[in-house]
Amino acid sequence: MPCLQKVLPLQSKINKMKQGKHTVLFICLGNICRSPAAEGIMKGLVEKAGLSDEFEIDSAGIGNWHVGQLPDSRMRKCGAEHGYRFDSRARQFQRSDFQRFDTIVVMDNENYRAITSRASSQADKDKVVRIADFLTSHREYTTVPDPYYGDYSDFELVITLLEDACQGLLNEL
Ligand code: 4NP
Repeated sequence: MPCLQKVLPLQSKINKMKQGKHTVLFICLGNICRSPAAEGIMKGLVEKAGLSDEFEIDSAGIGNWHVGQLPDSRMRKCGAEHGYRFDSRARQFQRSDFQRFDTIVVMDNENYRAITSRASSQADKDKVVRIADFLTSHREYTTVPDPYYGDYSDFELVITLLEDACQGLLNEL
């Protein structure tokens, strides 16, 4: 009998191949700053690479405080200044997202703990990755810091880090 922990990730890769699309979900605390920005930036990179048909990209929050809202106005403004339009509506992460998505990308260690604690199998836990692990130019960062209580420069930093990490992620998928 093969080790279950080795079999389940393989099964998840097979499922992805059957489905034929990369399914990527970005997670942050509120789903109004970092993860909608990651969603918009990743969609832009995928579109630029001519790969839009091969990807399903979404974002969600751990909390439900902002469900239905557009991204924070500072995040939208900062995004627009960098050529992005962040216009997704906030939603809360659901356990069923483990079935819908192959890769669940979190912004920080608190996100990692919150999402992996909802996983009901090792295979689901293995889908959760930290975005900072895909940084190439800004490897000194281990998280994408929460800008919500910060100033505008913190939103600029979110864009800078996400552009770097989303390109790194795309290169690995
Ligand atoms: P996000 O930022 O997790 O990047 O969307 C936050 C947004 C809202 C809150 C915290 C962080 N909040 O406490 O309402």
